Amino acid sequence: MVYYKSAEEIELIRASCQLTAQTLNYISEHIKSGISTLYLDGLAEDYIRSFDAVPSFLGYKGYPNTICASVNDMVVHGIPRKNKILREGDIITVDVGVCKNGYYGDKAITYPVGDISSLAGKLVEVTKKALDIGINEAVENNRLGDIGNAIQTYVEKQGFSAVRDFVGHGIGSSAHEDPQVQHFGKSGTGLTLKKGLVIAIEPMINAGSYQTKVLSDKWTAVSSDGSLSAQFEHVVAITDNGTEILTK
Ligand code: MF3
Ligand code: CO
Repeated sequence: MVYYKSAEEIELIRASCQLTAQTLNYISEHIKSGISTLYLDGLAEDYIRSFDAVPSFLGYKGYPNTICASVNDMVVHGIPRKNKILREGDIITVDVGVCKNGYYGDKAITYPVGDISSLAGKLVEVTKKALDIGINEAVENNRLGDIGNAIQTYVEKQGFSAVRDFVGHGIGSSAHEDPQVQHFGKSGTGLTLKKGLVIAIEPMINAGSYQTKVLSDKWTAVSSDGSLSAQFEHVVAITDNGTEILTK
């Protein structure tokens, strides 16, 4: 069931999304060769709690940490680890969520660690642009399939692939709600977008095949062929003022 939000609720979601964006901004300054992904996790948790908010991934379906830290061929849900040390040339997707005053925020960015290969650089740029292209389709009276199709068409033209096993989602007074937001598919299909809809669009783009597998820790998803993967996520709201990015 899709919940459409009032203007008041959208302001509460915006406040949580702003804190989410600030958290990423804060930890991004600490991303460098030699630090562990668990160190970033601790920084994020302390930062979020200092604003009287709660890290929303922590404990969600048993997830053990505040951030997801997905390095190189990790697609999503990389568990932060003390022995996972960032190295020059890596790419790392940091995904974080917060809950404040009962409303959720969620955002992800892929960062380079120092100088990265031209392939990694292109993947990061294409994935970032894929999110923008998806958001451009997230307008009233468009369909969800228009978003997915635009993302898929663009990334495939660039020689990459859009992951199918993980999707975006509605968000509000729960971290994940209907509808599911696919980053692939057919235009002109799916839910018609109406005012009050708030969704997280979060394309995961692989340099190789779109297939993924989950490691034995039951969370960390990697590309099946070992190719690099990147992800960007924003929360957007369809409002009287058009489409607003809440995680700016
Ligand atoms: N941004 C992802 C999502 O919204 C991350 C969820 S991590 C989890 O689905 F731990 F909460 F599952
Ligand atoms: Co999300």
